[in-house]
Amino acid sequence: MSTTKSVFLVSRTLHCSARVLKKPKAAEQRWLQRQRKDPYVKASHKQNFRCRSAFKLLEIDDKFKLLLPGHVVVDCGAAPGAWSQVAVQRVNSAGTDPSAPRGTVVGADLLNIAALDGAHFLSHHDVTDPATHAKLLQLLPKRAHVLLSDMAPNASGFKELDCEKLISSCLTLIDLAEMVLRPGGSLLCKYWDGPFSHSLQEKLSCIFGSVRIVKPNASRKDSSERYFLARMYRKPIK
Ligand SMILES: C[S@@+](CC[C@H](N)C(=O)[O-])C[C@H]1O[C@@H](n2cnc3c(N)ncnc32)[C@H](O)[C@@H]1O
Repeated sequence: MSTTKSVFLVSRTLHCSARVLKKPKAAEQRWLQRQRKDPYVKASHKQNFRCRSAFKLLEIDDKFKLLLPGHVVVDCGAAPGAWSQVAVQRVNSAGTDPSAPRGTVVGADLLNIAALDGAHFLSHHDVTDPATHAKLLQLLPKRAHVLLSDMAPNASGFKELDCEKLISSCLTLIDLAEMVLRPGGSLLCKYWDGPFSHSLQEKLSCIFGSVRIVKPNASRKDSSERYFLARMYRKPIK
């Protein structure tokens, strides 16, 4: 059998493209090495989380107690679904604990999100689109206690541009909050630190009683990733 044919067959067997079988480029190799060494990646495999970001939310929730049994949660930028897995466990939306109130978890992403017991997902939906806001509202039994956003645009390679893009996506969460978040509710949203983050913080401070910056240990030290944790939502007076 020719080499090309055997590579094709192996790739078919592994359900991946032949490109995956090529020698990884230097940047890909660095990424693979980092993944192999990362204790959170190992722990996420062990605990069946869909990705390492689960540990960021677990850490934040252990400290600030955002997610309680019976709570209603909206997860924006939810794919592949690790934050939703954490939310399902913490709000008991799969009814695992029959003695505790049963919560609700609703998530949306531009990408496909594989089904998860205890969560309702809107795959292929843009969270910045008002039509998605209306659909999310329809899925909620009552106004949400917590709005989560780990949304992140694809990196363009231009750091400042990416930061600005993420901040403008986060600003649309203010409209979503107005539609779905209950007074007193919380918003946890990811941003990349840069010249535009201050304007988001100011806007959040106008509608939440407190806004703090959180950087969990699971968030890579060399990343500009941060989270705004905004609590005590009050509806804006118009
Ligand atoms: C870091 S991942 C989220 C990981 C997720 N929290 C988890 O634990 O599985 C960021 C996600 O944001 C999504 N995203 C970015 N912009 C979006 C938008 N405008 N609407 C919906 N999803 C978006 C991306 O498709 C990507 O899946």
